Amino acid sequence: MRKKIIGANWKMNLSRLEAESLYHEISNLGELNEHVDLVVFPPQPFLGLLSLNAGVALGAQNVYGPEIFGAYTGETSLQHLIDLHIQNVLIGHSERRLYFNEHSDFIGAKAIAALNGGFQVFFCCGESMEIRENGTAASWVEAQLTSLFEQMDPKSCSALVIAYEPIWAIGTGKVPSMDEITEMHGFIRGLCEQYFDTPFADAIRIIYGGSCTANNARAMAQLPNVDGFLVGGASLSYSSIQEIIASV
Ligand code: PGA
Repeated sequence: MRKKIIGANWKMNLSRLEAESLYHEISNLGELNEHVDLVVFPPQPFLGLLSLNAGVALGAQNVYGPEIFGAYTGETSLQHLIDLHIQNVLIGHSERRLYFNEHSDFIGAKAIAALNGGFQVFFCCGESMEIRENGTAASWVEAQLTSLFEQMDPKSCSALVIAYEPIWAIGTGKVPSMDEITEMHGFIRGLCEQYFDTPFADAIRIIYGGSCTANNARAMAQLPNVDGFLVGGASLSYSSIQEIIASV
């Protein structure tokens, strides 16, 4: 039985006071929800300010994996995260791929370095509307995942969370149909089995992201291969994230 997991991706939002206050409220909630793992991804400068609490983990929205220290202006290294006792990282988010030109090889290298360093990696994949409409969404997602799988040690399986996030659903209020989510999550699990083996495929958590709200989470959480959510906008409100957590 896979434990559900929810990532709250705050992106580049919230003031320090707002972040501290929301994190404090969510922390109390996390302790009450032992059935779900909760990871908050705050803006990077706040990572060291939020004190780690039982029930809620913290994660970095981005990391530079390949080197530990060096002349990489503006980057955060895995070692910096280790120093802050942060054990989760988000890698390959479509906003990183689109706005910061992060390509598959770079993303794969970051994910492998983080997995090998003992981090839990939320690895994002997902297609644009154009790709969905031309019927190649599955092969697009397959290419994104196999660029990681080809380099991955299956022993790091338990530390990988795959986040399926169709780009056209992120921040738009549009959500794929239940059939489309079922089909894609099943396809991803099948891919895991094909590349590794059945125990690997059975253990890995595949979560959905893209306009997940308190209104639609309960129905999506019932789908057999949906093991939780990566939540952006709705994670900025205490009542919304509380309801999403209660619905899984
Ligand atoms: P959204 O973002 O929930 O605001 O659509 C999800 C994400 O980008 O992870």
